[in-house]
Amino acid sequence: MRFYEEKLDKIPSLIRDVLMVFPTSERLSVISPSATLAITAKAKELRAAGKDVIGFGAGEPDFDTPEHIKEAARVAIAKGLTKYTPVGGTPSLKKAVAQKLERDNLLSYELNEITTSNGGKQCIYNAFMACLNKGDEVILPVPCWVSYPDQLKLAEARAVSVFCGVEQNYLMTAEQLEAAITPQTKMLIINSPCNPSGAAYTKEALISLGEVLKKHPNILILTDDIYEHIMYNDQKFYNLPMLFPELQERTLVINGVSKAYSMTGWRIGFCAGPREIISAMEKIQGQSTSNPCSISQAAAEEALIGDQSCVSEMKQAFARRRDQGHQLLSSMKGVCSLLPQGAFYLFPDIREVYQTEGFQNILRGQNDDSLSRVFCTHLLEKYETAVVPGIAFGNDNSIRLSYALDDLSLQKGLERIGNMIQELN
Ligand SMILES: Cc1ncc(COP(=O)(O)O)c(C=O)c1O
Repeated sequence: MRFYEEKLDKIPSLIRDVLMVFPTSERLSVISPSATLAITAKAKELRAAGKDVIGFGAGEPDFDTPEHIKEAARVAIAKGLTKYTPVGGTPSLKKAVAQKLERDNLLSYELNEITTSNGGKQCIYNAFMACLNKGDEVILPVPCWVSYPDQLKLAEARAVSVFCGVEQNYLMTAEQLEAAITPQTKMLIINSPCNPSGAAYTKEALISLGEVLKKHPNILILTDDIYEHIMYNDQKFYNLPMLFPELQERTLVINGVSKAYSMTGWRIGFCAGPREIISAMEKIQGQSTSNPCSISQAAAEEALIGDQSCVSEMKQAFARRRDQGHQLLSSMKGVCSLLPQGAFYLFPDIREVYQTEGFQNILRGQNDDSLSRVFCTHLLEKYETAVVPGIAFGNDNSIRLSYALDDLSLQKGLERIGNMIQELN
């Protein structure tokens, strides 16, 4: 007791003492906090301090969850669906997932080939934990979503990054895939449309990747289809098993309701794949979170098989903002913006801006070795605009802007970016 009394007036050193006696795991030292969540939190903090910050950081639609989905949740509560469910989700949610996969992707699955989790993120984590051993290689086209590399580190697997620059529309070619394959390759990750670039593989491009994969039967495929419904200009969505039925037996299809139905907070994702892997994923989930929220499951079921008109309504708004954002960025000196085919991100290449005298002056006296981070820090501190540094996605030449924000803020935020770039020039 005396020990604590003596220490109470020096809490920070007490924390230090505790950490020395109980250090956090070594596992923790290999991963970093999510950069996108960090920038969103920083923007919120500045806003709370009275700053007029415009946030391009968040990876979530700004729309409310559609009313019919919320109603399904209210009905679930009224019916008392508030208890544990089977670990991988209720049979009726799994049926809804199977219906969705049949309807949208022409893929057939039995219920024991489907599982659901707390978001696509947990599905991916479970999949890595279930499939990968220490040292297994996983081919990762870069730029990529921030969580893949860190989750792979937690699974002790080795990410084999394949850099896909702006010159190749941020998409991996068949030649690059072939060159990255070794006897240790266990898995390939494909995310199309892609976070952060918004690039989406065409049918032809996917076919050429599939032809390579056909020659390597031991490679598992993880196709992260979370942005499936946010594709523009009538470009049709494809994933590898839709084009190569023979690949279905070694593919994990990841998807969820977060992005398409504006349900990020409800935390429902799903995975369809070989039953042995699905059962292994459920084993892991059973010892960590158990089932995802029972009420969210009922809402997700309605989202997947109820009225789908909300999806195209939201997509229309995104398409308008994409065009506006792309146009404004393209008019800025030294900015190379590609028109994204999907998702709700712009990923302009700003290498030329780094060369300006103004930026070189900012760099002087900085000891940060990431140019995109220096750019974004300056933008946030001096122009009150939050964007995510490309380095977080493996490409320091770019920055990521989420256009999931209202039209007025979009316009205002882009003007601020334009002002900064003009002043740097
Ligand atoms: C590429 C990608 N995959 C998966 C997810 C996970 O989404 P959720 O866990 O909300 O389903 C995200 C979310 O940002 C993402 O961008």
